[in-house]
Amino acid sequence: METILVTGGAGFIGSHTCVELLQQNYEVVVVDNLQNASAESLSRVETITGKTVHFYQVDLLHKDALTAVFNKHHIDAVIHFAGLKAVGESTQIPLTYYHNNLTGTLVLLDTMNEHHVFNLVFSSSASVYGDQKNTPYHEAMKLIPSSPYGHTKVMIEQILQDTFQSDPRWNISLLRYFNPVGAHSSGLMGEDPTGIPNNLMPFITQVAIGNRETLNIFGGDYPTPDGTCIRDYIHVVDLALGHIKALEKLAAQKTPDITAYNLGAGKGYSVLEMVNAFVTASGHKIPYQITDRRDGDIAEFFADTNKAKNELGWQTTLNLTDMCRDAWNWQRHNPNGYK
Ligand SMILES: NC(=O)c1ccc[n+]([C@@H]2O[C@H](COP(=O)([O-])OP(=O)(O)OC[C@H]3O[C@@H](n4cnc5c(N)ncnc54)[C@H](O)[C@@H]3O)[C@@H](O)[C@H]2O)c1
Repeated sequence: METILVTGGAGFIGSHTCVELLQQNYEVVVVDNLQNASAESLSRVETITGKTVHFYQVDLLHKDALTAVFNKHHIDAVIHFAGLKAVGESTQIPLTYYHNNLTGTLVLLDTMNEHHVFNLVFSSSASVYGDQKNTPYHEAMKLIPSSPYGHTKVMIEQILQDTFQSDPRWNISLLRYFNPVGAHSSGLMGEDPTGIPNNLMPFITQVAIGNRETLNIFGGDYPTPDGTCIRDYIHVVDLALGHIKALEKLAAQKTPDITAYNLGAGKGYSVLEMVNAFVTASGHKIPYQITDRRDGDIAEFFADTNKAKNELGWQTTLNLTDMCRDAWNWQRHNPNGYK
């Protein structure tokens, strides 16, 4: 596989994956409509790698524009990141989420089919497991999402299963990410959320840089050692490398298939452990207050990562200190993100 189309490649995980792809000598073509990203991230990818990204500002919903990209480049495989991703927002504007994530994927699959491109790595999510209490989450568990966002991921996984059943030339990896954090070690790339961050780490870094006053911790009375929720955090560069392993497996296997893999660290950290690790890594205090629990949050979950380890030969190599150091390095050199 030589040329990889990366949908949503200007986004947080996509841009970090572009760096790793280019460093392993893949040609990289990106389509992104920039609704939640800046093209500056791709300039940074080029600065880090000294290589070119073929970028097209294209919305996946616009089939003609997408077809033009497939006509111009001989694509060998697609990594499909493009989508809306905020769980809370998806409960407020579910139709927008279903339309963008599902229709975008359908248009992409149709276009791939027409161009005989059958290799696909799809960005799924731990949210497909919903709020099940029997952690660690294993790939064979039931999929019972608890938000419209999570439903889009399960529905897309189902669409991909059906597509594979209909034509066994399809060769598909479903990667279920846990909580990606951190940033590129250069300090040139990182997470740049629009508005109030939905996730813990960008909130912490924005408090540290002085853009926000206090971190709200939702719930301090969970049945965990310090009372705050425990989640599985994964460094975004480890996550990016998981995509390379998935591509390598698709290229190597004799018979195409469709397989789901959890990509996580395989262990959890509490919110307070994250805050304390960040304070140590950055030397900055993080004022916080414990507020009410958030609807739908469960005390603890993390990934069972054995399948990715055994079948992809992938596991995380970066730890909590690396995640905090790199997130802080990005934020302090880019107090306003890519702006
Ligand atoms: N970040 C997380 O916590 C997390 C966790 C699990 C799964 N995921 C999934 O991973 C993928 C990437 O996440 P991210 O954190 O990099 O998000 P992101 O918002 O930074 O990146 C997604 C990119 O897709 C683009 N996009 C959205 N809809 C599009 C469309 N119709 N056409 C073209 N481009 C479009 C956005 O502009 C953005 O650049 C998403 O599918 C997300 O659901 C993310």
